[in-house]
Amino acid sequence: MSVAAALSTLRTRAPEAAPRVGLILGSGLDPLAADIEDAVEVAYADLAGFPDPGVAGHAGRLVLGRLAGQSVACLRGRAHLYEGGPADAMAVPVRLLAALGCEIVVLTNAAGGITPGMAAGELMLISDHINFAGANPLVGPNDDAVGPRFPDMTEAYDGPLRAAMKAAAAGEGVRLHEGVYLWCLGPNFETSAEIRAFAALGADAVGMSTVPECLLARHAGLRVAGVSSITNLAAGLGAGAISHDETLAMGARAAAGLSRVLRRFLQDMP
Ligand code: HPA
Repeated sequence: MSVAAALSTLRTRAPEAAPRVGLILGSGLDPLAADIEDAVEVAYADLAGFPDPGVAGHAGRLVLGRLAGQSVACLRGRAHLYEGGPADAMAVPVRLLAALGCEIVVLTNAAGGITPGMAAGELMLISDHINFAGANPLVGPNDDAVGPRFPDMTEAYDGPLRAAMKAAAAGEGVRLHEGVYLWCLGPNFETSAEIRAFAALGADAVGMSTVPECLLARHAGLRVAGVSSITNLAAGLGAGAISHDETLAMGARAAAGLSRVLRRFLQDMP
């Protein structure tokens, strides 16, 4: 589906908006949107081609405004493949960011930590990803006006943006791990054997999102940065079972640090 209809709706609501940075907020990270100044909010339900906010399970609102001196477009809530929608459910939202003029998108999520040394409530900068979901939002006819049929993914997560995010975390005194994020379909949390297998494959954290948006963003020519909030140790690595409530609570704890890092990142952006 094309972004033209959603773009014209946004143009009537916020004619002046010229965001440079797109933000996608994951589980427990929604409070970050409250910091956006001069905010114009549009419900996903009013934007053609956006996922059903009921399905998205989060706020389901696009917020345009300013954060730490930068003009931003923030997607509060994403669709996940495990909800049953198509793999390209986030295609229009991500392409709309590009159509609005964003050059950069910052993807955030909640993830289970695999690599030793990570603790719940800490952050991990995504250095790269492994698509282990057997799905891809770019499957189907290619829209050559958006991007190439065979997009390059050699450095999917932009090197200079990674360096800037590390500098922002250091400046704020917030611990930032760095590693590879592996996308699992879900909705169940993984088995302990799966986590051992993913560790052997080179994954440092595991989650149920973000990879489709990274693929869509790279396809559309956006530079991508990604940060995971490590809400729990992955299956078999912590004490006992993993619960969604725990991931939400730890996501909220990580949100405070992430908010500081993101503000510094935006503020220091050349
Ligand atoms: N696995 C998958 N997704 C997650 C996890 C996890 O352990 N924690 C938060 N999201």
